This record gives sequence, structure tokens and C-alpha cells, in this order.
Amino acid sequence: MERKRILTGDRPTGPLHLGHYVGSVANRVQLQDQYDTFIIIADVQALTTNFDQPERLRQDVLNVAMDNIACGVDPEKATIFVQSMVPAIAELTVIFANLVTVQQLLHNPTIKTEARQYNFEESMPYGFLGYPVSQAADILFCRAHLVPVGEDQAPHIELTRKIARKFNAIYAPVFPEPEQILNPRLIGLDGNAKMSKSLGNAIYLSDTPAEVKRKVGTAVTDPARIHPTDPGHPEVCVVYAYHQTFNRDEVSEIEARCRAGKIGCVPCKGRLTEVLIRFLEPIRERRAELERNPDLVWDILQKGTARARAEGERTMALVREAVQINYFPMPGKDR
Ligand code: TRP
Repeated sequence: MERKRILTGDRPTGPLHLGHYVGSVANRVQLQDQYDTFIIIADVQALTTNFDQPERLRQDVLNVAMDNIACGVDPEKATIFVQSMVPAIAELTVIFANLVTVQQLLHNPTIKTEARQYNFEESMPYGFLGYPVSQAADILFCRAHLVPVGEDQAPHIELTRKIARKFNAIYAPVFPEPEQILNPRLIGLDGNAKMSKSLGNAIYLSDTPAEVKRKVGTAVTDPARIHPTDPGHPEVCVVYAYHQTFNRDEVSEIEARCRAGKIGCVPCKGRLTEVLIRFLEPIRERRAELERNPDLVWDILQKGTARARAEGERTMALVREAVQINYFPMPGKDR
């Protein structure tokens, strides 16, 4: 029996942080043994908010690839590829656009939040409004079954399922209705629900030990604690949340001591800093190694993209037949 297929990925808009690690990369490393895994570097999607800075893309694509590999994504197991170089994704986006209404997109809660963030509320680029349609094409071009992503992506997966269902009903049963695998979320250093570059509350996978120490120092703790002997409330503390995620061995001891007023926030932060530095060390080493060999990384992306293109062509043959736009054989190399 064929293995089920996963598609997931990132927008290349800068180096990845711990929020990306917890919210997506860790899970894809787990799943790559079990599933046929495709990882998209969504450069066209990055352009929907950064279209005026094309010069950033090359480095950001490379950064995201290096971060993924440094965290344990294995190019022998997973197919890492660049979105803009898979024509089937652009072609499907146009076909899918007919199956979605503008009203649906305007009601998408993730679009609403991001529109506020990028000041698009008054004047919204058509490409930005439509990126969830393009994301459906990211997922369906390889007929993926599962999409491991965070909660904020749920509206996009729901739309993808609707598009697949509608396409299958009108034309022919080409697509599976992909299901979300819900990834956990890491809160920001400032206590914001999400760690994010634009909020400035992130620890980067590439941060040095000194940067990690400084940033953990700024993390928000229980405001009711003035003295280290005051009983603490770990449930409202960012540092505790990070202990839960990165320091499983010590977390219950830390919780008990915090509640009893037997560990102050400063030593508690010190222990987290140590744990994070130890966690990031091998990632930073592998990343430094990759930085010395960018050609190797481009080669991985080129090979992954070739496989993704081939998958896309297979899907497009079915789509052309289903939509009855297969008038004659396609000129050109790929098909
Ligand atoms: N929108 C995702 C994010 O901002 C990135 C992404 C693009 C993606 N295409 C995808 C995620 C397809 C999963 C599947 O993180």
C-alpha cells in the first residue's frame, strides 16, 4: 500500500524561530519517517506581503531550507521544494479561483488578522486576498492527504477541503480532501499568543547563547510575584510555558518550587537559558556547516523541486482531462 502524503511548509520571510520549531518543524521531522513528506518553501506567498522586496527572496529561501535541514528534516526522506518553480501550483490556482467567492476570502479569519497586520484593510491587493486559493494549490498539486500546521492555518485547510470537494463534484474525483494535523503553538516572550518576527518576541534558531540569555531575561513572568518567596502562578508565566516545552525533565519540580515560593524568577530563567542553549547548540552547528556549503543546499532544493514538478505534471494531466482543456498534447519539455 502507498504511504499517505503530507504537505506542509513555510513562507520564506526571514530565519525561523522557536515558534516555527514547536509549531511546525518538530512535527515534520517526526512524521517524515512514516509519510511521504513534501515541504514547500512558499516564496510566491511571501511575495503577497513583500512584493516590493524581491531581492530578499534568494537569501530567505536559502535560510528556510537550511533551518529545516538543521532541525532534522532529511532530504533523503522529505521532498523540499520551491513553490515558484512548480508551474502546476500557479496553473491550479487559476482553475481553483472559480470555485471560491470573494466573500469567502474576506471572511477568512487569518486573512482578516493579517490584513490588519500589513495595513491592507483599506486597500487590499488581489494577490494577498487570493493567497489561500494559492495555498490550496500548494496542498493539492501533489494530492496530499495530511497537512500538519498550526491553528491559524485551519481556515486555509478548510478552504482547501471545500475546493477539493467542489472540484471533484463538478469535474472528476481528482483530489483527496486533506486533513489538518494540529501542531502546538509556542507563546511569545512577551506573553502574546504567538511567537512571531513581526511582534519582536521571538528567539531565533540561529541566536547565539548571549542572545538567548538576553531574550529569556525579557520574558514575562507572573506579575503577582514581587519577591522570590512569593508563591507563583506558573500558568500565567511565559518561562514556565517554555519549561513545559523544552525542559520536560525538570518542569514538575520547577512548578512545585514556583508555587511554594522556593525558586525565584531569576534562577528559573537561568535554568531555561541553559536548556535552550543546549537545545539550540547542535542546530546552530549543523546550520553553520550548511552555511559553508550553500551549493549543497541549492542542490537539495533543485532535486526536490524536480520531484515536485513531476508530481505536479501528473496532477495537471488529470486536471486538464477533468476540466476538458486537454485539446492536444502540451508543447514543451515537461509534458
Ligand atoms: N501559510 C503558511 C504560513 O504562513 C505557509 C504555507 C504556504 C503553507 N503554503 C502552505 C503551509 C501549504 C502548509 C501548506 O506559515
